[in-house]
Amino acid sequence: MKISPKMKKSLNDQVALEGAASNSYLAMASWCEVIGYQGAANYFYMQSDEERTHMIKVVHYLNDMGAYASIPAIKAPSGSFKSLEGILKTALKNEQSVTKAIHKMVEITQKEKDHSTYAFLEWFVNEQVQEETKFETLLQKFDLIGRDKLAINEIDKILATESTTPDADPTA
Ligand code: FEO
Repeated sequence: MKISPKMKKSLNDQVALEGAASNSYLAMASWCEVIGYQGAANYFYMQSDEERTHMIKVVHYLNDMGAYASIPAIKAPSGSFKSLEGILKTALKNEQSVTKAIHKMVEITQKEKDHSTYAFLEWFVNEQVQEETKFETLLQKFDLIGRDKLAINEIDKILATESTTPDADPTA
């Protein structure tokens, strides 16, 4: 194994965290679809797929390092949402905890002089900056456009546009 047991555990925890994020966005997408926020539904379905690719990135890395990834059980995410704004706030909170976990791992790589994992995590550090900014910008729309039905319809349209333009590779 080319990484420490501590690093292996953190990366496996990250697999679970990315999987949980994928699942949580899936629940949000489904709620939006039922309510009739089609733009937001498409956006969160896409977001859910993106999180799954993050999870698989970590799985491959663990396996490449001879550490053998553990595939976690899927926990049921919360599905009781009240509003689109509430969903976006929860999404931002989720991303902030993912960022924290990634930064903690970076600290471990620095302590352990694990240059390979440090380089691997760089992509995630950049990705998290993009993810947080994305949700912060979307949340600002409620202050800018409003919270009545027409405003929410406008915000749903913005989300529809966002869901047709997947994120650029943060390292590109
Ligand atoms: Fe993969 Fe949005 O954290």
